Amino acid sequence: MLFTATIASWLLAASSVYASTPATSLKWHWLNNPGVQPVSPIGRSITVQVPPDTDIWRPAISKHNFTAPYLYTTVAIAHFQSVQVTVTAPWKTLYDQGGLVLAFPNRHNPNATRFIKAGIEFNDGAPALGVVATDILSDWSLSPITEKQTTADAKATILVERDGTDAWVYVVENGGQTRRALRQVTWAFNQDDGQGLAREVEVGIYGAKPTEESGEGHARDKIAVTFSGFALNIV
Ligand SMILES: *[C@@H]1O[C@H](CO)[C@@H](O)[C@H](O)[C@H]1NC(C)=O
Ligand SMILES: *[C@@H]1O[C@H](CO)[C@@H](O)[C@H](O)[C@H]1NC(C)=O
Repeated sequence: MLFTATIASWLLAASSVYASTPATSLKWHWLNNPGVQPVSPIGRSITVQVPPDTDIWRPAISKHNFTAPYLYTTVAIAHFQSVQVTVTAPWKTLYDQGGLVLAFPNRHNPNATRFIKAGIEFNDGAPALGVVATDILSDWSLSPITEKQTTADAKATILVERDGTDAWVYVVENGGQTRRALRQVTWAFNQDDGQGLAREVEVGIYGAKPTEESGEGHARDKIAVTFSGFALNIV
């Protein structure tokens, strides 16, 4: 009964708010990418030139860092279902990274934005699947890329899906036929954690390059991170 009622209220809300706003007409914004016009990543491939000394990471309250180029749109929390993207780049330097970000803005303090970032990150001499979840402070997990790679530059398809009050992060493998769980984030859509539920979630793609290249004249080298197959499922 409750389940049915919940679905019904979602459908009602969805039809009233989003009937005239399909995913293809959402507004997109660039954060930290001056001079670049935002375009929707839906239905096209996008390559982002990511400068060094950038990150999305909060290891201490006083060290909130949200300096990476981030192309995002804003979705009402009630309507978010899932987001997926395929990411690749010539990863070669410690912490080179790119993938999805979900950010839950905090109206009272921009430094307290909660976020999930998930994608590929270069660590221990190889690209891996990395997930950072930041409620108060950031924590980070890594999983190996186990799927056979078809290109020299590691590629992965990352999915973040809502399941009740949780967000689950998956890597999608076997041409979309299987998914492997990387992370369960219990605070994502939970109103019961003392911080209250954000009304909106910012959803999009990012690349970051915390480490400068070594070698004379290479400190400002960028990494080109490419995204394809972006899919945003809102109800
Ligand atoms: C963000 O992190 C990068 C990489 O560690 C660093 O170079 C940069 O100075 C930091 N920026 C801020 C504003 O903390
Ligand atoms: C946010 O954090 C930065 C350091 O990353 C600091 O310089 C700034 O003062 C903080 N702003 C607020 C409102 O706390």
